[in-house]
Amino acid sequence: MSVESSPQPKACIIGWPAGHSRSPIIHGFWLAQHGLAGSYERAAVAPGDFARFVHDFARNGFVGANVTLPHKQAAFELCDATTETAAKLQAVNTLWLEDGKLCGDNTDVEGFLAALDQDAPGWAAHADKAVVLGAGGAARAIIHALLLRGVKRIALVNRTKARALELAGQAGAAVEAVDWAELGPALSDADLLVNTTSLGMKSQPALEIDLGPLPAQAIVSDIVYVPLETELLRMAKARGLRGVSGLGMLLHQAAPGFARWFGVKPIVTTELRALVEADI
Ligand code: ATR
Repeated sequence: MSVESSPQPKACIIGWPAGHSRSPIIHGFWLAQHGLAGSYERAAVAPGDFARFVHDFARNGFVGANVTLPHKQAAFELCDATTETAAKLQAVNTLWLEDGKLCGDNTDVEGFLAALDQDAPGWAAHADKAVVLGAGGAARAIIHALLLRGVKRIALVNRTKARALELAGQAGAAVEAVDWAELGPALSDADLLVNTTSLGMKSQPALEIDLGPLPAQAIVSDIVYVPLETELLRMAKARGLRGVSGLGMLLHQAAPGFARWFGVKPIVTTELRALVEADI
């Protein structure tokens, strides 16, 4: 009698493109650290092929996936069930199968908060007001996260004011769309500044901003992590402000997916951080 061993659980990052993602490094580290049999791969899937790829998921041996640009909304629409967070954001970045059902979560919220907690401990105790730059999907997740953790007022500043107005309208009375020209006054009583735009990222335009008006105890957070120290974080450091890089969010948003797929809750260690930093 032959005994067939059960196949190793497999997860992947689905993107278009997917080549630049650091997720394989992160999940590969945790698999090895915990001595788990399993694998994590890259899946470059064009938008037109996404639904079929996800439909064939289980048949191809996958237990779940991370989803990145441009598939987060499509992933939400394909799910049989989602977490409240994903439903609120109408976007999914983590998929898993449960009793044959496709389930989705948006772990950017948890990832952003866990990174702030790790890199700026105690931040929420002094976070009445935040200024958020950008009004895309990342801003939507971060505004939700900030409101969950008790931030009372958010000034939303975006190049295209109409998008800021729309997002502010959906987020509720605590969020106000503010003109870019009014950024200085908005910063003057802010406890936290978060850049959710791609400005300052390698090969993107610089984020041109004067941090002068920010109070001395303010925290500056950038979701960009290439380069590790953006010009925004360099300016914050020069002013003696606490800075939080986007690397922490990248690492922490990965943890809930790993726990669901492989059954172990992983930790973001300094060793993991150094490994990913070495690839940036
Ligand atoms: P994501 O889902 O990552 O948030 P997105 O929805 O494309 O991506 O949003 C990108 C954000 O970066 C937007 O707020 C965008 O501003 P617009 O709404 O005006 O497009 C902002 N952004 C990107 N490039 C920019 C630039 N060169 N100058 C100013 N803002 C920029």
